[in-house]
Amino acid sequence: MIRVAKLLDLPKIIDKRGSLSFFESDNQIPFKIKRTYWIYDVPGGEVRGGHAYRESVEFIVALSGSFDVITDDGSEELSYHLNRSYYGVFVPNLLWRKMENFSTNSLALVVSSTDFNNGDYIREYSEYLQLVKGKEDGGKRL
Ligand code: TYD
Repeated sequence: MIRVAKLLDLPKIIDKRGSLSFFESDNQIPFKIKRTYWIYDVPGGEVRGGHAYRESVEFIVALSGSFDVITDDGSEELSYHLNRSYYGVFVPNLLWRKMENFSTNSLALVVSSTDFNNGDYIREYSEYLQLVKGKEDGGKRL
């Protein structure tokens, strides 16, 4: 099973009045948007989103400022630096992720494939490891 995030470029329409970018469900991003939320006013040094989702997939854009999205599939950590609003990172389900290194006044836009459901969160890293390692072993430990 491939569990890796992907940077996705968005259209950028530039004219003398400024620039415009957009994304649509099942078009620039590979899922239907069910929910939108955003993260802002993050104090320096704070870390958000240390968890994985069982089902939800997400697309994250830095609408303003910059931050890093760090993913961890249980074996390898990868870092995606977001600092422009014309690209974002697609995060599949069952991939541990956190967001850190927020700049002053940064604004993280997140669209999700599901309604909010606390039961969809995997908040314990040990549980995440058991889930993904178990699956890689053919599901024996699930
Ligand atoms: P959470 O996803 O835990 O934030 P982070 O992982 O970035 O630290 O969400 C923080 C709180 O907000 C938590 O109590 C759940 C609530 N929440 C909603 O009610 N709806 C939502 O769509 C989201 C993302 C969070």
